[in-house]
Amino acid sequence: MKDLAVHIKSFGCQMNKLDTALIASALQAAGFRLTDDVKEADAVLINTCSVREHAEERVYSHLGHLKHLKQYRPDLIVGVIGCMAQRLGDKLLEHEAVNIVCGPAQIPQIADLLREALVRAPKRAVVTDNIRQGGQDSNAALEEFESTYSAGEMPGQAFVRVMRGCNRFCTYCIVPYVRGPEACRPPEAIRQQVKRLADGGTRQVTLLGQTVNSYKYQSGNRTWCLADLLDMVGQVPGIEWVRFVTSYPYDEFYEHILGAMANSAKICHYLHMPAQSGSDRVLRAMNRHYTAGRYLELIERARAVVPDIAVAGDFIVGFPGETQEDFEATADLVRKARYKNSYIFKYSPRPGTAAQKRLADTVPADIKQQRNVELLAVQDRVSAELNQAFVSQQVVVLVEGPSKRQMRSDECETPSRALQNVEGRPAISPSKVQLVGRTSTDHIVVFDGSPSLAGSFVRVRITQASPLTLFGDLQP
Ligand code: 5AD
Ligand code: SF4
Repeated sequence: MKDLAVHIKSFGCQMNKLDTALIASALQAAGFRLTDDVKEADAVLINTCSVREHAEERVYSHLGHLKHLKQYRPDLIVGVIGCMAQRLGDKLLEHEAVNIVCGPAQIPQIADLLREALVRAPKRAVVTDNIRQGGQDSNAALEEFESTYSAGEMPGQAFVRVMRGCNRFCTYCIVPYVRGPEACRPPEAIRQQVKRLADGGTRQVTLLGQTVNSYKYQSGNRTWCLADLLDMVGQVPGIEWVRFVTSYPYDEFYEHILGAMANSAKICHYLHMPAQSGSDRVLRAMNRHYTAGRYLELIERARAVVPDIAVAGDFIVGFPGETQEDFEATADLVRKARYKNSYIFKYSPRPGTAAQKRLADTVPADIKQQRNVELLAVQDRVSAELNQAFVSQQVVVLVEGPSKRQMRSDECETPSRALQNVEGRPAISPSKVQLVGRTSTDHIVVFDGSPSLAGSFVRVRITQASPLTLFGDLQP
């Protein structure tokens, strides 16, 4: 077979990036070559996200470019995979550019689908009809795929999914409809996967799940929870740091997880626990099973057990019926929770969700935008204050690599660049460049050093802080 080149593009969350990395690894094992250059690719795969409308719009715009490219390259194969493929199925084949549609449960078939398409260029969709029915066979195939291929995205770091799907049905969210029901992976499969990763040089593992803190697995007469997994992964030789995302604010296993964090130097002091809103009325309409007061209690408990824990949140502004008073309750929660950072999203109705079916999208676009900016400003003040406390401290940092965007500490950071400050211009000097890394608490640290430090742990003395970034000097 001719050397076939595949270009893969990923739009979406960490789960989606993990799928992309697994697919890339599987395609290489099947004899395909990966390329960064669309122009030389025989096939382009787009891994899609459906969580917000904006993500889907970006995919359509990309498909528009590919349609144009196909006028000159009619043999080019285009595949759409992931959540949008699951949501739209066959309908996506109506787009002129699209040859293959492959749902998240069918990714183990991707190499075969590509080969078939490259030989005969058909249009074909493989998507589960009812993803919420799950099924042993599909789970077994996904489990094998997951544990066979590896997904180290950055030097020294890897993501490991511990559970798939979600059962919570927050009214705004499409995830339960496109990713299917909750399914927890066996601890032994996770341990073996982490061991292989550690043998290959991985030092930090991030355990992934939509509601990762609800992980539960019955093995013989033992019930495993996330705390047990964290301990188990921390004991794999070579693993230095273990983290987990994303947590749902609820009680079960909470003390165990915090206890594991307090007792093991390997479990990072970081909790990503979305609140979504600070208004009890809105939380009820979102089908989130807690009040703002209860949520704050959970954070207080975390700080009592792990005093330096850093907490990150997610918020949706402009949920149907959100009043100014509701929004102020959210701003109040952001001030009280003292998040390290918050990811803030404008509500967008997702087809098939309870909110889209039953609640009118009443908050005008300009008000959503205004609330988004205001909430970011509230968060920025909190972040700036918290980050200031790091100045003149030494921190341990796992180096990600050269910061693609060369930053100055006096540069003003706009909130929209939140946590994306690694984009932009490449580093200039090869011997010493601006590096970016993260602390165990997930704080971003920028400092000068050799690119060869990527994937290792270093000490940095913090000299300056802005709301999103700590700046410092590498210590010998
Ligand atoms: N509109 C806006 N934001 C959403 N999120 C999920 N669904 C929607 C939606 N329909 C946000 C939530 C979630 C994050 C991954 O995306 O804040 O935590
Ligand atoms: Fe979506 Fe809620 Fe599940 Fe998170 S917990 S994936 S917001 S349904």
